[in-house]
Amino acid sequence: MRVGVLGVATSKFGELWDISPRRLVREVVSEVLASSNLKPTDIDALYVGNMLSGILSGQENLGALFASELGLNCPAFKIEGACASGGLAFYNAALSVRSGVFKKVLAVGVEKMTDHKPEIVAYGLMGAGSDEERQAGTTFPGLYALLARVHMQTYKTTQEQMAAVAVKNHFHASLNGKAHFSNIVTIEQVLQSPLVADPLKLLDCSPISDGAAAVLIADEDTVKKKTNKPVWLAGAGVASDSLGLSGRDNFTSLKAVRLAAKTAYQAAGMAPQDIDVAEVHDCFTIAEIIALEDLGFYKPGKAAAGIAKGETTLGKGNPLGRTQGKLTVNTSGGLKASGHPVGATGIKQVVEVVQQLKGQAGKKQVETARIGLTHNVGGSGAVAVVHIFKKD
Ligand code: COA
Repeated sequence: MRVGVLGVATSKFGELWDISPRRLVREVVSEVLASSNLKPTDIDALYVGNMLSGILSGQENLGALFASELGLNCPAFKIEGACASGGLAFYNAALSVRSGVFKKVLAVGVEKMTDHKPEIVAYGLMGAGSDEERQAGTTFPGLYALLARVHMQTYKTTQEQMAAVAVKNHFHASLNGKAHFSNIVTIEQVLQSPLVADPLKLLDCSPISDGAAAVLIADEDTVKKKTNKPVWLAGAGVASDSLGLSGRDNFTSLKAVRLAAKTAYQAAGMAPQDIDVAEVHDCFTIAEIIALEDLGFYKPGKAAAGIAKGETTLGKGNPLGRTQGKLTVNTSGGLKASGHPVGATGIKQVVEVVQQLKGQAGKKQVETARIGLTHNVGGSGAVAVVHIFKKD
């Protein structure tokens, strides 16, 4: 059973103090339905990706909440998997269509983080870590800083190369009107920004953001009837690993990502060389470097140099000064600069890739985009979700 995309939408990401999660969801769902020429009652099921609403706002029951907000009584599910909640919501939505149970299914991701004190948000995010990590008082910047140190020691990865990830993603975000940050940054600005968790600095980190995104998917017959340039889900993979770093035997690579990618490539009958655009989980600059290696785009230890040469940056105006390579990464600006409202991130990645494949990515369009990949990670690698999309 093939699954295709009927419509996509994302809200502005950023500090959205004047808008509630309900309104964010209503807005993205209205946009998706209008673009697909459908009404809410056409939806057979709703999957909501969210991580923090329980711990930050005391509201856990988001499936029913948003279904009733849309005036629906359909089956509705909240899916939680830390920062991979959005990717997992999409995975389960697609599974429900592939199984033949539902025909038109809505996957929504939403998170409201900036209304709360940063230390409360950091505490909530650590709900994705192990008991030992929480008891030790560590944070996600701290955990990824450890991974960065090991990568630097093993492969001679430099802080300048990590900074290049931020330069690229801020450049891409400057072309994305819905990104949290629209400012361009230089390598020097990244290196001189305040230290958060050595060696990661402020500009190596994704921000705390608000936002929502939605994707409407359907079975093959419905998609063929409703769209003339369909984008199809070609393959999907999910894998898990220990919550804490102490349970891992390798700190330069995330096993869950390698496993999820293998499943997705096999299902799609594709290899890393087939991918034209990828939205990867760059919660910290080092995370994008590790992701490009785990997804098979670069050999271990080689991604940082490739990124720093500008190989994965959009061609026109490339601040890293080289010609765009075959693969362009994080055209949305990634988590780093487009923002990271955690439950919405995995859905927004799908929105960006679908827009690229449909030729609807505006100033950040990759002209050659035919096949795209999304990579969404929960915790420091405890959950990984990989999806591959292609156009006809
Ligand atoms: N990148 C770029 N600029 C950032 C930023 C980021 N990640 N985070 C904050 N800023 C900017 C703000 O816009 C603000 O600029 P202004 O003074 O011009 O308005 C300034 O830096 C200070 O912002 P503030 O909100 O006080 O920062 P903070 O010190 O409270 O938080 C971090 C900064 C990096 C600690 C926070 O963004 C963070 O914890 N990020 C990681 C989130 C995370 O762990 N997610 C899960 C990943 S697995």
